[in-house]
Amino acid sequence: MNIRALDLQDDGRTPPASGLLEIVQRGLRAQPKRLPSWLFYDAQGSALFEQICEQPEYYLTRCEIALLQVHAASIADRLGVDVRLVEYGSGSATKTRLLLGHMASPVSYVPVEISPEPLQQSVRRMGESFPQLPVQPLCADFTRPLRLPIPPRAPRRTVIYFPGSTIGNFTPREAVTLLRKMRGEMGENGGILIGVDLKKDVAAIEAAYNDAAGVTAAFTLNLLARLNRELGSDFHLAAFRHRAHYNALAGRIETSLVSQREQKVRLGRAQVAFGEGEAVRVEISCKYSPEDFASLAAKAGLEVLRVWVDPERMFSVQYLARAGSVAR
Ligand code: AVI
Repeated sequence: MNIRALDLQDDGRTPPASGLLEIVQRGLRAQPKRLPSWLFYDAQGSALFEQICEQPEYYLTRCEIALLQVHAASIADRLGVDVRLVEYGSGSATKTRLLLGHMASPVSYVPVEISPEPLQQSVRRMGESFPQLPVQPLCADFTRPLRLPIPPRAPRRTVIYFPGSTIGNFTPREAVTLLRKMRGEMGENGGILIGVDLKKDVAAIEAAYNDAAGVTAAFTLNLLARLNRELGSDFHLAAFRHRAHYNALAGRIETSLVSQREQKVRLGRAQVAFGEGEAVRVEISCKYSPEDFASLAAKAGLEVLRVWVDPERMFSVQYLARAGSVAR
């Protein structure tokens, strides 16, 4: 899982082309301090994220897989025959396999991933499960315009698959920009299949980001450990605490690293000062009602054609096409 920042924004996210030190310095100079969430996903962070997905409180992965187990046939039916499936992020084998297992004569599978190792893994996994399926990996940042590989035969439709509620890690404005970019890439007859986490009981949402085993806290703190490893900074991990709380007005989890005392941290040639209780925002995870998401999609020129929801209404998988398109 790799989430890069869109470069069209005013929220302090920086294009990944900038050097790591520069990105971090800029974020920690900002007021309030913030760091982009893609910094979570080094090798350790990605392994911790896999563990988060297995925590009993983290309902998102479980619910999305359960939804696919029940509805994969009807989802695949909705996508139609001869589909080219482009997945943003290299994807969990389980979800993508469930889907592909029900798809009629898919033209190709195109996993898009910024890091080569998860991409290779994804190619290997798909080759094992679907030896006949052409896999066309694309090593790229999916928040930027993509040049999709030429398919082995003409697809009837290109469907962009974006599971996991990763869309929630972007602000609504960024999400519209990303959806609009997908709209262009999928073409006139295309579609988007997307996992969207739903608004629900606040306690359930907050528990998902504050698991009892402390895996999410370790994941958040690993960001500082990564900076120590890669930049030689001297963040004292015990002097920071993970905090994830639901902002009901904004409809999102806000995750921060909170300084436990007044302290100075070495970063490059400079020092960064933190006050006691000062927070560094590291992630947002937006939650949507089906109506919220439909109006977000409309801003990107898209229409929600179908929503699959679990009986507890925890999570949704949604199918989007160009608004007003006759090609359904
Ligand atoms: C990747 N993304 C959808 C996760 C989420 O739920 O926002 C990342 C995560 N952060 C903490 N727990 C999981």
